[in-house]
Parts: sequence; C-alpha cells; structure tokens
Amino acid sequence: MPLLFRKVRDLRNHLRSLRCDRGLSVGFVPTMGYLHEGHKALIRRSRVQNDVTVVSIYVNPTQFGPSEDYDRYPRDLERDMAVCEELGVDVVFAPPDEEIYPIGFQTEVYVKGISDILEGRFRPGHFKGVATVVLKLLNIVQPDRAYFGEKDYQQLKVIQTMVRDLLLPVEIVPVETVREPDGLACSSRNVYLSEEERESALSLYRSFLLAEDLIKGGERRAEVIKRKMEEFILSHPHVRKIDYVEITDPDLKPKDKVEKGDRILLAVWVGNTRLIDNWKVSV
Ligand code: PAF
Repeated sequence: MPLLFRKVRDLRNHLRSLRCDRGLSVGFVPTMGYLHEGHKALIRRSRVQNDVTVVSIYVNPTQFGPSEDYDRYPRDLERDMAVCEELGVDVVFAPPDEEIYPIGFQTEVYVKGISDILEGRFRPGHFKGVATVVLKLLNIVQPDRAYFGEKDYQQLKVIQTMVRDLLLPVEIVPVETVREPDGLACSSRNVYLSEEERESALSLYRSFLLAEDLIKGGERRAEVIKRKMEEFILSHPHVRKIDYVEITDPDLKPKDKVEKGDRILLAVWVGNTRLIDNWKVSV
C-alpha cells in the first residue's frame, strides 16, 4: 500500500528525507480522486520518469461554482488507494479542507487572460481555484515533475503559464487524453451519465472525427467546421445545450482558418452533466 498522508507537515517531512537525504527525484500527479484510466496514464508516466511518485486526492471546493457538482462529485478513497497500490504509487496525499484552506486564508492566484476565455466564461472563478490549489500543492510536494492530462487542455495552459510567470522550479509534463474504446474521453464525471446519455455523449468525439473529415476534404473555415460540429452534436437525444465549440491555435488564440496542430475545444451538456473535450487537428 502507498503511504497515506493527511497533514501537510507530515508529508513535507517525509518527502524532505527522500529528496535531501536519499537524493530521490519526485513526480507528482494532482487529482480529485475517483481515479480512471486517464489518471493511470499520468501515474504510469510519473513512475517511468521519477524515483518516487506522489498522488494527491483532493476535491478542491474553490474551483466549483455555487451551482456546480461539488457535493455530488464522486469520492472513494479506498478504491483510489487500491488503484494507487496496483500502479506502484509511493505516497498518497489526501488532506482535509482545513489543511489546504486554514482559517484566515486569503491569497488567490489569478492567471489573467487565459483564465477568462472558454471554460472561464462559463465557470467564473474556476481557474482561480485551480491555480491556487495547484500552486499550494506544488509548494507542499516540491516535485521535479508534475503531470497534467490534455483532456483539461485549458487547465494545462493555465498551469504552464503560472509556472512560467512565477518561475516555479518544476517541469510540467502534459499527457495525451485517454479515451474509452468507443472514443469517450475518460473523466470522473462520466459516472453521472445514464446508458442512453453516454451513447449521446459519444457525439463529442465523433464531432472531432467529422471535423477531421471536413478538413481532409479541403474545408479550412473555422466557422463552417464549428457550425457543422454543433449541428451534429445537437442532433443527438439528451444533448441539452452546447456552451461552446471553438477552434484555436495551441495557445488558445481563436483561429479563422484551421491548420494542422490547432485545437478544437468544446463543452456540452448531456442531460445534467457538463462534459468537456478537445482535439488536436492532425490534417
Ligand atoms: O484536474 C483536476 O483533477 C483538478 O483540476 C486539479 C488539477 C487536481 C486541481 O484540483
């Protein structure tokens, strides 16, 4: 079993001795738990690149809006510990709220600009919560490398920007999105979907394939591609609404003409579940 720490001080003492006394490198995988294949890919990458792998499991309240799913977000520490054991994780950090946000806490991290577009428009304050908790976790763990999935592409960009701007001594390692065999991107929120909703949720992945086909056929106008993707997604039952479909360059700058390497990002409500996904244009 991995060692389980609840307190910042205990974790710091343990990691200090591994790093300083034994000279071991540390890889860090921050998560909100309910681990799936996407998390497993991050953990496996960390295990290959570092001597010690630390996984944090913390459902961070500050990145959820008041009407979002904080209360019902899936939690199962016992199951997560078993996954971590199976994958050879050395240390799990699962702090209570008061360790991360003690009374009197008043500092927030705001990565301007990039936090306000796309997801930021629909989830105000979300990336402030993410950047703040990730900075705190990085300060606690002080890893050599930290692993983030491209599934949350904008989150990855926010973190990379924060690390660059604040000169944090950590390498951020992006890891490709892991999909179910039928294309659905792995996400802890997939458990909210009924069988029929899950079927409709496949339209997100399939809309990327549609976009690729259009591009292959010579269509480069972002507006046309986005409209066709939206029509396709909305033609599925249980799809309630589309928050956005956007095409950007790799740094999230909107594009009119689509090129290889651009990103297509979307957020769609299927039933009561809000799903996000993104795709790197390959043609
Ligand atoms: O991607 C997540 O699971 C969370 O946003 C993170 C990075 C663990 C911060 O709470």
